[in-house]
Amino acid sequence: MMAKRRPLIAGNWKMFKTGPEAAELAGQLKVLVSDIADVDVLVAPAFTAISVVAETLKGSAIEVGGQDLFWETEGAYTGQVSAPMLKAAGCSHVIVGHSERRQYFGETNGTVNRKINIALKGDLIPILCVGESDAEREAQETFLVVKEHLDKGLEGIDGDGLAKLIIAYEPVWAIGTGKTATAEQAQEVHRFIRDWMEKAGGNSIAKALRILYGGSVKPGNIAGLMAMEDIDGALVGGASLDAESFAGIVRGSLGVAQ
Ligand code: PGA
Repeated sequence: MMAKRRPLIAGNWKMFKTGPEAAELAGQLKVLVSDIADVDVLVAPAFTAISVVAETLKGSAIEVGGQDLFWETEGAYTGQVSAPMLKAAGCSHVIVGHSERRQYFGETNGTVNRKINIALKGDLIPILCVGESDAEREAQETFLVVKEHLDKGLEGIDGDGLAKLIIAYEPVWAIGTGKTATAEQAQEVHRFIRDWMEKAGGNSIAKALRILYGGSVKPGNIAGLMAMEDIDGALVGGASLDAESFAGIVRGSLGVAQ
């Protein structure tokens, strides 16, 4: 078996936590995971909390990401935030194409593609989210939908770009619902994503690609997911809002029982 990729546990704080609340959570987390060296840890606060969280996390290995970005570098685009703004505020990563953006804010594979391009150009590591809805799974369209998210979202991205990317498989029916995909269900899609990457970027990029699972990840189910060959970490929503439970997931990703 090939060497396991370094795990990444990322917390998506969504529209939770004011600046002071986010700073408090980041401060707790910094202490709780300070002894864990073998996992990459990242948090994605709301835009208004990014600077204060980055400041709080100085001196720790925890990285900071944005939850979205706009596809231009600057301009008259009221309400939007650009890659250089995220970078200057302390972000190394940015989530692109989260299903909530696709569902509520008109995100399409086309806008995702523009955002991936501008993120890479701005030296941010994109975390591309893909995944099927309940109805699509029922209709046995899971692979079709994931393939389309990848084909269109990553259209025209060259090998250098593909090598930087992180992909998160998040079945929409498992997000915030308490329904986790079984480790086997997740593994089967993760394998499909890695095979897609092998065709698009070649063997070594596919082997190194980190594919996160997202959807109701908790301290109690992370170890089972991580035991799967192609699951390299998690994108965590609800359970990332509490420092103890998020730290439990970070620890659990190493196979430490929670
Ligand atoms: P959840 O969210 O962990 O609350 O299901 C995951 C996500 O949306 O990234």
